[in-house]
Amino acid sequence: QTRLAASDADSEGRRIARSTNSLGELEAALARFDGCTLKATAKNLCFYRGAPSAPLMLIGEAPGREEDLEGKPFVGRAGQLLDKMLAAIGLAEADVHITNIVYWRPPGNRTPTPQEAIACRPFLERQIELVKPRLIVALGGAAAKEVLNVSEGIMRLRGKWRAVTIGGTTLTALATLHPAYLLRTPAAKQLAWLDLLQIRARLSGDA
Ligand code: URA
Repeated sequence: QTRLAASDADSEGRRIARSTNSLGELEAALARFDGCTLKATAKNLCFYRGAPSAPLMLIGEAPGREEDLEGKPFVGRAGQLLDKMLAAIGLAEADVHITNIVYWRPPGNRTPTPQEAIACRPFLERQIELVKPRLIVALGGAAAKEVLNVSEGIMRLRGKWRAVTIGGTTLTALATLHPAYLLRTPAAKQLAWLDLLQIRARLSGDA
């Protein structure tokens, strides 16, 4: 038996994702979906944590070791820093929706391949439609490329609001630095703080 090509997985995934009407249905559909090869090596599906519907949706790169064990995004060290960053602008887990561009852990935490991201993309688009965020924040370069559909590096991309059209809806999105990068490069927290202030201002309607 041959493996589905990325484009087949994409169209099959699109049909399946579009047929779902709730996050519960979308998660069940992902659990049955075999079009992303990462599923074969991962322990668990990591769908989201936080609120089912939220004004702010944060999208990271991929589950890591802790996330794979718990079946939830951003529960390891990077996730703890992310929670602190959100708390600094007055947001708790229940105020946001947190997910990744792929739903399964890549072996050895490598960056997801374009095929892996393409396979998950229809589910991410449906997720965005169901969560109905006002703002999307991409965490790190891989998520920024996927969500903003651009190829520049994260240092050039970060901190600027852009309009992105996803599944027929136009949303406002911003890329910021990945919390795992901030753990390795604490001096960059200054830049992340500027981005957080922009997010706070947009959410409160001041910008
Ligand atoms: N890094 C990510 O990008 N996502 C996670 O869920 C955890 C770490």
